Amino acid sequence: MKRALCPGTFDPMTSGHLDIIERAACIFDEVVVAVAASPDKGGGPLFSIEDRVDMATQATAHIANVTVRPFDSLLVDLAREVHATVIVKGLRAVTDFEREFQMAQLNYRLDDAVETLFIVSIPEYMYLSSSAVKQIAGHGGSVSGLVPAHVNERLIERLGKRR
Ligand code: PNS
Repeated sequence: MKRALCPGTFDPMTSGHLDIIERAACIFDEVVVAVAASPDKGGGPLFSIEDRVDMATQATAHIANVTVRPFDSLLVDLAREVHATVIVKGLRAVTDFEREFQMAQLNYRLDDAVETLFIVSIPEYMYLSSSAVKQIAGHGGSVSGLVPAHVNERLIERLGKRR
């Protein structure tokens, strides 16, 4: 039984995140989507941890071997707790590389029994990020197709009406 962790802040989950999770679910027996509390990230997340877990749960409801849970610890400690041996991250443009490389190195140093595996984003989602989605939605632009439909509705609720 191979179990992988797909960690992130998911503020909110995008179609790019979902694509990586779906592809990880084809490779591993079980995938745990780990939603980080990340209270300090970029002035604090837009959505509460409960909302982000809820959105991620709805977005992945169609994938039988995926579960979603919040965490507020070191990722390697969560990996040990849930018996996951692999951390799966999506890799987009080259700009992601340095940060992801640093996290992978640090996680390996903290626990060399946990491997980091990168799945390369498809070109359609290469420049998609939660921050870009929030910026577009915040200015009234449409993010339809860039996020699951129910996430789009929550963004409109939170940030105002779409033009
Ligand atoms: O969505 P993000 O910002 O790429 O997610 C980053 C996340 C949550 C995976 C990362 O910040 C993380 O693993 N946080 C938990 C704390 C930790 O383990 N830090 C040590 C490795 S850098």
